[in-house]
Amino acid sequence: MVKIAIDGPAGAGKSTVAQLVAKRLCVLYVDTGAMYRAVTLTALKQGCSVEDEHGLRELLDKMNLTLETKKGIQRVYVDGEDVTEAIRSPEVTRCVSTVAAHPLVREKLVEMQRKMASTQDVVMDGRDIGTAVLPDAELKIFLTASIEERARRRFQELEQKGITVDYSQLLHDIAERDRKDSERRTAPLKKAKDAVLVDTTGLTIEQVVDRIVELHREKVGERA
Ligand code: CDP
Ligand code: CDP
Repeated sequence: MVKIAIDGPAGAGKSTVAQLVAKRLCVLYVDTGAMYRAVTLTALKQGCSVEDEHGLRELLDKMNLTLETKKGIQRVYVDGEDVTEAIRSPEVTRCVSTVAAHPLVREKLVEMQRKMASTQDVVMDGRDIGTAVLPDAELKIFLTASIEERARRRFQELEQKGITVDYSQLLHDIAERDRKDSERRTAPLKKAKDAVLVDTTGLTIEQVVDRIVELHREKVGERA
């Protein structure tokens, strides 16, 4: 079965690249960050504190969180409502790392992620896919880029959507999220020992996709 894990810090290009790799290999793409974002959005809507681990777990146990791929794009639903766009709000982005640090939240989402990968071929991206969710993935990639480049990419992405933000604030927020994700106790962001480090600074999306597809081909060749 195809199991590709792509981890790395914010703005490294994980979702863009993982989605294209999945398309090239004709397998499912799973954006696990969207699941942490959906829990965060629901907590904010329902007035559940993002610090309240037990409250968040209760909310997660009650909510119906589903992912569906439509026209090659992963869509996220909470109790039947499409929240694909809403989970990208600045407020959710600001709070998501706090929610994701709670072991009771991670336990449930990791279980769902493993289940998805057990029945179908996947390219899965996140922070702990190679280290915790799919430790036996046939190919693990740790995608990085300099913080300046990552902030620049996000800045451009927002600008294209007509949203102007302060570049230094954006850079600060990304650094802060990376710090929280890397310093948490449970499944922190870190490169798995057997992951291939791919620094995308100065590389185009196509170059990164080609490199990963090539690495996968080599892995499959090694196994044959
Ligand atoms: O903004 P970006 O696309 O980089 O982030 P994301 O992939 O949507 O993930 C949002 C947040 O969810 C991350 O900053 C982590 O706090 C958390 N996350 C996690 O803890 N584990 C994962 N496997 C995926 C995301
Ligand atoms: O998922 P993650 O937070 O790692 O990053 P992303 O949302 O896939 O990518 C952030 C932005 O960087 C997107 O607008 C991509 O089009 C862009 N990007 C790029 O310019 N060059 C790359 N090699 C990869 C991504």
